[in-house]
Amino acid sequence: MAASFSQTKCFHPRNTFMRLIVLSIFGLIAIALTMRAPTAERIHKFKQQLATHAAPDCSFNETHIQNLQMRYDLTDSIEYARRQIRYLPQDIKRKSLTKIDDELFPEDFDEVNLKSPPSDITCLKEIELPVPKSARPGTADARDFLFGVSTTYKRLTEAKTSPMLEWAHWLTDGNGKSNGGGLILRLVDASEEQLDEARKRLTSLGIDVKVYHSDSSIEMAQRYLSLLPTLYNDASRKNRKWLVMCDDDTFFPSMSALVNRFSEYNHKSDLYIGTFSEDISNIKRHGSQAFGGAGVFFSIHLASVITDLYEDCITPKKIKESDTGWGPQGDILLRKCIYEHTEIRLTLLRDLHQLDIVGDPAGFYESGVAPLSLHHFKGGPIWTKAAVYEGAKVAHACGEDCYLQRFISNDDFVISNGFSIAYYPKGIQFDINQVERTFGAAPEDFGYNLDFMLGPQRGSLTKTGRKVAWELRESTNLGGGSVLQSYIRKADDKRWTEDGRPLFDKDGVLELVWVP
Ligand SMILES: *[C@@H]1O[C@H](CO)[C@@H](O)[C@H](O)[C@H]1NC(C)=O
Repeated sequence: MAASFSQTKCFHPRNTFMRLIVLSIFGLIAIALTMRAPTAERIHKFKQQLATHAAPDCSFNETHIQNLQMRYDLTDSIEYARRQIRYLPQDIKRKSLTKIDDELFPEDFDEVNLKSPPSDITCLKEIELPVPKSARPGTADARDFLFGVSTTYKRLTEAKTSPMLEWAHWLTDGNGKSNGGGLILRLVDASEEQLDEARKRLTSLGIDVKVYHSDSSIEMAQRYLSLLPTLYNDASRKNRKWLVMCDDDTFFPSMSALVNRFSEYNHKSDLYIGTFSEDISNIKRHGSQAFGGAGVFFSIHLASVITDLYEDCITPKKIKESDTGWGPQGDILLRKCIYEHTEIRLTLLRDLHQLDIVGDPAGFYESGVAPLSLHHFKGGPIWTKAAVYEGAKVAHACGEDCYLQRFISNDDFVISNGFSIAYYPKGIQFDINQVERTFGAAPEDFGYNLDFMLGPQRGSLTKTGRKVAWELRESTNLGGGSVLQSYIRKADDKRWTEDGRPLFDKDGVLELVWVP
């Protein structure tokens, strides 16, 4: 080392005189280089720089963070950082992983005491990021689709389970107007007042809805199957191409992408389109069929065939046959109806996701996936929890393709846009193209249950000290193509520990502001 340093020594300016000469030469070269650009061009370039590199707002919004503190029970002292990302829509393909040639968080996070908040935060320059051009939510034309959902008034209206805002995401323009997609809603055992109230609330969101009563004394599997004739007999059918059955916890994050995908199918043929469960145990147990939570799509003609077959398909014998030990299943009744009477078989659309996984779903949402549907994201006793409605809001900024797109920075952060910002303190030595198995399969988990649908998964990094993630809890659509995302990491999150020791003593908040 010493030898190589001494070799360079003779080039070092040793005294003031030498230093002056060297500086003047460099100065003259610099001036000569700048002079070469014509003045008009230089001014234009300067103006462009001003426009695109406007300094981001680095004030600390006390109210906003204190709201987060209240809602997520944050410690009084938090680690905080915010970065502004200017997205540049271009004619490029959506990649599962896109490189940001920059560090995402080059400075230490700010330590913020929320009892005496600062007025400003460490100001990081804006990042520019090319993204594929794609539609914003609310611009889809979904008039070819009529959806059917069955639920209860309680699930419709309780905060934990209510799908109303999600429906507004995929059934309206976001401004109180329908996007053309229709909804037939059946409320089990609801009163007249409840049907009215549901109608009022959904209509006020802009959802084109018809609300009907349904009766719990009818076997659930039969009730499910009977939804298809109801969709088929709806007055709007003659203007539709696709009749869709889904659950009250089915979410379509990217309606334009869904509409585009279905334009590739021949709607005049007999089509039964859906996807399998991720868990081969479920296929073994229930059969090879569309699993309804991911959404099941029927061409009009096939729906007419099933409507004609309806009585033959719901006999007590058929209902008994659709019971695999877990009670009669609507999905099975439907499959039997089609498979036993017609030559039509399921068309698999693997971008729909049933999400029969348990535990922490991070590995799925951090895989770069571009889902056409999501399901089982509301938690509860069995299924996983993810803030997919809040997450998908980023499409109001950088477009539908941008949701769950991954961006990797030089300092080993990976943004899974709208789900998490993960940091890998010991580097990324694993195959990031494989799904991390943060989750499991419902019992019995043989280890390989999910491999067929998700590909073999790499091991989980939780509790190894090799990964930390801030997960998206809220997004704010700021209007004009800007979205603010709030990602939160709790200090007591057992996942971010090493040898049982927590990696942090404070909660952390990272925010991204996506601007046009
Ligand atoms: C600060 O946050 C509050 C609450 O989220 C919001 O209403 C307000 O517009 C924000 N102010 C600024 C300057 O962003």
